[in-house]
Amino acid sequence: MSAATSLGVQAAAAPGPSAAASALVAKLARPDILRLQPYQHASWDPTLERLHANENPWRFPGDVSRSGLNRYPEPHPLEVEARLATLYGVRPAQVLAGRGSDEGIDLLVRGFCEAARDAIVTCPPTFGMYKVAARIQGADVVEVPLLRERGYALDPDAVLRACDDPRVKLVFLCSPNNPTGNSVDPRAIERVVRELADRAFVIVDEAYAEFAAQPSFVPRLAEFPNLGILRTLSKAYALAGARCGALLANAPVIELLRRMIPPYALPAPTMEAVLTALEPARLAQARERIGQLLAERDRLAEGFANLRIVARVWPSDANFLLIETTDAPAFLAAGLRAGLLLRDFSANPQTPGCVRVSVGTPDQNDRLLRSVAAA
Ligand SMILES: Cc1ncc(COP(=O)(O)O)c(C=O)c1O
Repeated sequence: MSAATSLGVQAAAAPGPSAAASALVAKLARPDILRLQPYQHASWDPTLERLHANENPWRFPGDVSRSGLNRYPEPHPLEVEARLATLYGVRPAQVLAGRGSDEGIDLLVRGFCEAARDAIVTCPPTFGMYKVAARIQGADVVEVPLLRERGYALDPDAVLRACDDPRVKLVFLCSPNNPTGNSVDPRAIERVVRELADRAFVIVDEAYAEFAAQPSFVPRLAEFPNLGILRTLSKAYALAGARCGALLANAPVIELLRRMIPPYALPAPTMEAVLTALEPARLAQARERIGQLLAERDRLAEGFANLRIVARVWPSDANFLLIETTDAPAFLAAGLRAGLLLRDFSANPQTPGCVRVSVGTPDQNDRLLRSVAAA
């Protein structure tokens, strides 16, 4: 059986983004992953008692979890993926849930990049895990800097030029971008995705999309076979400690990466927390909190703008602000005096003097503003 057939990509005869995505997966994925026989986990049937997985038959004293932590969790988190599909408005076959969106990044790089041969494109200053995942895999990283003088705008011409390099399999674009906070112009993203349609996968990391004024690229999956989107429950849904994120992509991409994800993709307490947090009443609360965070973000930005130690507050579409300071050590020290940790980006030549501040509770934000004002 050819690698393509084993992935069901022969179904690619039918037109549509999934068919084109199948062809692209067959062309770009690591051949050994296309041929990989996934691990066969113990069968899953919650109606029967389990003597087939070498588990302990008793809970540990104090285990109040719904399903019992003595038991392995559902091997493939079908219910969570179905809920995530509803949340994001896609089909369950277009969702891969993992331990944070970090796991999606890792799986993409391992699935598509051969060590010492392939490469990814990133646009710094940006989220550091794309580069780390590539380095761990032994893939090269081609960097196409954002244009600071244009508000950290994407340079689509430069990205496309970088992709003339046949080693490039994946392009990571982060919007809103971490740590700069700005959304990337959707026309620039669209151009990159469109022009790379038969050459590379473009992954739009939308970890902060719920805070952004700009629409998500998720509804456009049907248009672009080479588009993937990373989403997370860590930010807007207040579940960073649970570790749950999702890669959304056309089904053949998800099918490929599902072969590689370790069995028991999500711990049982994580699944329980996710299903609770995504109940309709709690989603309404999450939306309210997003509104509060946005109001606090604007209040913080205004408060910082007039301070002597602040040279510029970069516009943000996320739940944090990048503050260009005239004295980063003094700014950070003011945070510490208020008992608050901030993130120092001042040594990076692309973010000179900059400190990143996550929007906190009104009380935390007040304390920070007071302390920085006194610095
Ligand atoms: C842009 C971006 N992507 C992905 C992540 C990872 O999120 P998680 O693994 O918690 O889903 C982060 C975390 O800060 C981020 O800023």
